[in-house]
Amino acid sequence: MKDGSTSANRLFVETYGCQMNEYDSGIVKRLFGDRGYSTVQSESDADVILLNTCAIREKAHERVYGRLQSLNHLKRKNPGLVIGVLGCMAQNLGEDLHGMGLPVDLVLGPDNYRDLPQLVEDIRTGKGGATLARLSSSETYEEIEPEVVSGCLAFVTIMRGCDNFCSFCVVPFTRGRERSRNPDSIVQEVQNLVKNRNVAEVTLLGQNVNSYKMDDGLDFAGLVRRILDETEIKRIRFTSPHPHDFPLHLLELMAEEKRFCNHIHLPLQAGSTDVLNRMNRDYSRESFLTLVGQIRELMPDVGLTTDIIVGFPGETEEQFQETLEVVEQCQFDMAYMFKYSEREHTLARKKFADDVPEDVKLDRLSRLISLQTSLGAQKNRQEVGKVHEVLIEGTSKRSTSDWMGRTDSGKVVVFPAPEGTGIQDLESYRGQLVHVEIQSCTQATLKGIARWEEHPTGFEVATADSTLAS
Ligand code: 5AD
Ligand code: SF4
Repeated sequence: MKDGSTSANRLFVETYGCQMNEYDSGIVKRLFGDRGYSTVQSESDADVILLNTCAIREKAHERVYGRLQSLNHLKRKNPGLVIGVLGCMAQNLGEDLHGMGLPVDLVLGPDNYRDLPQLVEDIRTGKGGATLARLSSSETYEEIEPEVVSGCLAFVTIMRGCDNFCSFCVVPFTRGRERSRNPDSIVQEVQNLVKNRNVAEVTLLGQNVNSYKMDDGLDFAGLVRRILDETEIKRIRFTSPHPHDFPLHLLELMAEEKRFCNHIHLPLQAGSTDVLNRMNRDYSRESFLTLVGQIRELMPDVGLTTDIIVGFPGETEEQFQETLEVVEQCQFDMAYMFKYSEREHTLARKKFADDVPEDVKLDRLSRLISLQTSLGAQKNRQEVGKVHEVLIEGTSKRSTSDWMGRTDSGKVVVFPAPEGTGIQDLESYRGQLVHVEIQSCTQATLKGIARWEEHPTGFEVATADSTLAS
């Protein structure tokens, strides 16, 4: 530490769950970085291990318990090692996490990270363990710029918490009330990412991004307008919105502004109005379908993805069939599909018995997955022959001579690097836009040929040996 109180300051952070947690881990790394800590890639090199946890489904908890057990041997080898549990599970279980025989020194909820370096320091200097799981109505970590840039992409949190209280969801209890971050600090963060970190695309994050609201009336569309006008960011995406906050002016802004990507993650959750009512989702099957129709009318090339839960309490076979029908009608490009798991504190747990048998849940999940897999593959096949503007992100997973990027609508595209270039040339291309003609596809990926000779907006590669006709 800068004050010299301890000599070994190596931090290892492992993140579970959503992008919001990735962002929060970035805040934590920044706070520790400011205290002289360096981040290490392996837990066995660390003096402080932090697990930033998720509580959204049962499996998320189980994974963390397993992981903590596997850290026991490090703690035995090095009793000075500090292990902390952060995030939603910490908020949810609080003190209880200390009494489980797991190697846990510290439990801290998502609104308490400013205190974290000091609490760790107190533990390291023998002042005891800590639990802090107070939710705040105002914390947005406004001025802290997290370390979360990945290549030319970055996340920027614009709001925290959620007031929707969907009956299955633990988030309002682990992340507290909805609060929007000051727009000046958001614009400043995006500006800094573009200027100092060569970021080309930001994803605006929040549990409920499109209910962003400032006292002066600035809404989500207004915020995006400001970012478009006041920064040179090439692309803006967002996740996750709620279907109830899609005013026409927001959709029009997406349709008009090329830099505001045509990709909407629109959680359906269920296709039956009865189930939606019990889920406390304030839309019906019909109004969801109307919204999808309106989106497709304004943005025919939109990428539409969703979240769906099967086996919610009381879901009948007929109601599940309604979900299949809506999925068929909406033609989502991709879906995250889950079987319901009861969560502590939630309204569903209080009001309904978890009465759909496990084997029925599993059967419905597998039928839904197989329908969506075939619809998604069909949608990918429709892309063959089209030309997309792709933002170059990096090399493909399989080979460094193939590069990858995403279409405006969010689909992953792999294409051969320009002839005569190698991995060393990637940096001058990363974050640039290139037209790619799609030639084939697999289930999750499009494959194509980049038109290096063309120069779509913003494409300016200046390498001596590139094959670009400038
Ligand atoms: N059981 C199953 N899935 C859930 N999700 C949230 N809570 C639960 C739960 N208790 C899903 C929802 C949400 C996504 C992030 O996780 O589909 O949109
Ligand atoms: Fe959970 Fe519903 Fe809020 Fe999403 S909108 S975080 S599902 S309560």
